Amino acid sequence: PLIQILNGPNLNLLGQRQPEIYGAETLADVQARCETLAAELGLSLRFQQSNHEGALVDMIQAARQDAAGIVINPAAYSHTSVAILDALNAFDGPVIEVHISNIHKREAFRHHSFVSARADGVIAGCGTDGYLLALRRLASMLA
Ligand code: DQA
Repeated sequence: PLIQILNGPNLNLLGQRQPEIYGAETLADVQARCETLAAELGLSLRFQQSNHEGALVDMIQAARQDAAGIVINPAAYSHTSVAILDALNAFDGPVIEVHISNIHKREAFRHHSFVSARADGVIAGCGTDGYLLALRRLASMLA
């Protein structure tokens, strides 16, 4: 099965952006760790990032064609985007939402995620390991 991993705005700067919150690893490092685990789990991956809300909507719509599940870190759009929620509601497979930081420990405006109304699981505050945990969960949900 193919898993779509989607990353929202500013995650292209992972490793440079507020490393005290998000860590030193780059998004390419995260992708490499995900690819290694996916191979072990018998999953294939499409790993993408965009700073643009509509582009993320297009990627979620494309996942309807061929992806069995989605891992999404919607980043700041978690807290604002009904459009991303609606796109995920049009996707039939399992969805796991990931946040590198614990959004509940941070500013109040980060405590609510529109995407959580759709997500089958939510992982927050586990650092970039959250992506790997999400892949393991999808593998067991799809088994
Ligand atoms: C984030 C948390 C969001 O509040 C923030 O806007 C991000 C990253 C995280 O992974 O911890 O960009 O989704």
